[in-house]
Amino acid sequence: NNLPPTNAHLRQVDASAPQPSAAASKLSHLKAVVLGEALASEDDDVVVPSHEFSRQALVPSMQKYLEMYKASIEDPAKFWSGIASSEFYWKQKWGDQVYSENLDVRKGNIKIEWFKGGITNVCYNCLDKNIDAGLGDKIAIYWESNEPGFDATLTYSQLLHRVCQLANYLKSIGVRKGDAVVVYLPMLMELPITMLACARIGAVHSVVFAGFSAESLAQRIVDCKPKVVITCNAVKRGPKTIHLKDIVDAALIESANNGISVDVCLTYENQSALKRESTKWEKGRDVWWEDVVPKFPTSCDVEWVDAEDPLFLLYTSGSTGKPKGVLHTTGGYMVYAATTFKYAFDYKDSDVYWCTADCGWITGHSYVTYGPMLNGATVVVFEGAPNYPDPGRCWDIVDKFKVTIFYTAPTLVRSLMRDGDEYVTRYSRKSLRVLGSVGEPINPTAWRWLYNAVGGSRCPISDTWWQTETGGFMITPLPGAWPQKPGSATFPFFGVQPVIVDEKGVELDGECSGYLCVKNSWPGAFRTLYGDHERYETTYFKPFSGYYFTGDGCRRDKDGYHWLTGRVDDVINVSGHRIGTAEVESALVSHPHCAEAAVVGVEHEVKGQSIYAFVTPVEGISYSDELRKSLILTVRQQIGAFAAPDKIHWAPGLPKTRSGKIMRRVLRKIASRQLDELGDTSTLADPGVVDQLIQLADI
Ligand code: PRX
Repeated sequence: NNLPPTNAHLRQVDASAPQPSAAASKLSHLKAVVLGEALASEDDDVVVPSHEFSRQALVPSMQKYLEMYKASIEDPAKFWSGIASSEFYWKQKWGDQVYSENLDVRKGNIKIEWFKGGITNVCYNCLDKNIDAGLGDKIAIYWESNEPGFDATLTYSQLLHRVCQLANYLKSIGVRKGDAVVVYLPMLMELPITMLACARIGAVHSVVFAGFSAESLAQRIVDCKPKVVITCNAVKRGPKTIHLKDIVDAALIESANNGISVDVCLTYENQSALKRESTKWEKGRDVWWEDVVPKFPTSCDVEWVDAEDPLFLLYTSGSTGKPKGVLHTTGGYMVYAATTFKYAFDYKDSDVYWCTADCGWITGHSYVTYGPMLNGATVVVFEGAPNYPDPGRCWDIVDKFKVTIFYTAPTLVRSLMRDGDEYVTRYSRKSLRVLGSVGEPINPTAWRWLYNAVGGSRCPISDTWWQTETGGFMITPLPGAWPQKPGSATFPFFGVQPVIVDEKGVELDGECSGYLCVKNSWPGAFRTLYGDHERYETTYFKPFSGYYFTGDGCRRDKDGYHWLTGRVDDVINVSGHRIGTAEVESALVSHPHCAEAAVVGVEHEVKGQSIYAFVTPVEGISYSDELRKSLILTVRQQIGAFAAPDKIHWAPGLPKTRSGKIMRRVLRKIASRQLDELGDTSTLADPGVVDQLIQLADI
């Protein structure tokens, strides 16, 4: 009876949706193809799963989903403890309380705990438990190098051995339970190995995406003070060689200047990219992985930890200030990552699963390493660029490993779509059965291309909405369970109660749009921002008292389907990468010739959004291409290439209110050239600024 309003709509959908018959499925497909974007409303565009698929699905119908969803909402303790005890190994069961939560700042500190008192280990559950169940010889990882033709495999037993050797090495250099380990590795097998080794000994990994600059890496090192940094000498991405060790060297100098010295830099020799003789070396600090790790025993006792002990830290961008260290703990995250993986991809033991995300982001944590491996899945880990040596590479890999579940980002879909179908049709792809999308809203055109051209109109698409903070999927289709609407993430996962509120924080009912919040905790929720619980409360729980605020806008249609509409704060989503406008601005203003900068996101055909920067040079400095290049270079150096602005728009001044606040709304309109939608500019301190900006738009 305390079911969310969505449920009423779910029932309507159930009754009114076309029944999943072969004919209906065909019809809806035809409708989608023939009418394309010209449909009267995307809300009415449904794609019905085939009978064959639904019949074999873990959740075969809306009715079954509703039963399970209802159970998960009415008695979360029972629902989640049932899954936790039947599908995971606990050295010791949790106490009387399965979970305790306070999401309301008015009632005291925000607190979320799941399975507290339960003693377990995520690495044990990923490896030892699966091996004990007979999966020792099953392939855990198919690794595909940047260069076609170079690959490697690890079975679950081999993976365990590698993990134990590294875990033993880490212990030998003094890494203990609770210590931070910073990882700056590309998609080598050594990356999941490192994550699992840390988990095995209770160390807290903090993986930094190996596209971040030395400065960003240093910032994270200074924040979490690791005993050791783990990296490799270089990596090839497409035709380019990137010298990662040089970046780490620079970061370690920078962190030492800020009072944090790291004793050990464990470096993997990635021979295909760079030989050790050509790698710069700091004696006494740097250690070759290959020289030490293989000498350690292939078994290593597990450090049993509390469910609420930290598992990892992952830094992510916010709308203000420096990146936030999102902290995930052990038990709840484990249960949630594994369960969401299983249901949202309709996972079967025979599946071969490939997620194109990098382990430097949350998707790689939950859905390259932990979620799949907790399920004993075979995972493809790909080092390279998805369009190298040509845009057919993904489908080549799909055919090579007989990938059945392919999970990727809309930006890649759009870019491959642009390259033409001939790169797709060249390959069979008949192994595929489920597709997935993550990182930003997938536009219906890209959805249909993925569905038709890639999936042969056979494979349901799980458009999974979630965040670094949520640990796992929050709103996602369950393949086969209900009709899909291209572009909609559809319905909440078990145990999740999304609500849409207005600007006053009042829950909206029925068809509506507003701010997306969640009104309860779920096991995979992050527990704090590392070292800054106050910022955690202020950012996520104060905007709308009583709720977790996601930062996203959302619309619910007449059938209860959820449509994510993008960030409502000052966070930009470029190719599925989250970038804070404040971070880019602070990089720009650190340039000696930049007096002021304001950054907004504009729509981009492939990247979803691109970064558009308004820059006021200091007095006496004129606009020039050199300055433009040098400003962009500064952002690349301070954050990373992926955060480089696509456009620098010269600004004699910025539109500010009388109290000095930049009116970003106006900047967004100028950036997207919607000049007739500038709105009311009369409250600006100097309305003339707007005309000046418009005149300078194409310079
Ligand atoms: O705006 C939403 C968007 O990505 C944000 C979270 O970014 P991050 O923490 O980096 O995690 C990305 C991978 C989970 C969200 O606030 N987002 C993510 N998935 C979707 C999405 N927007 C729409 N649809 C999605 N499926």
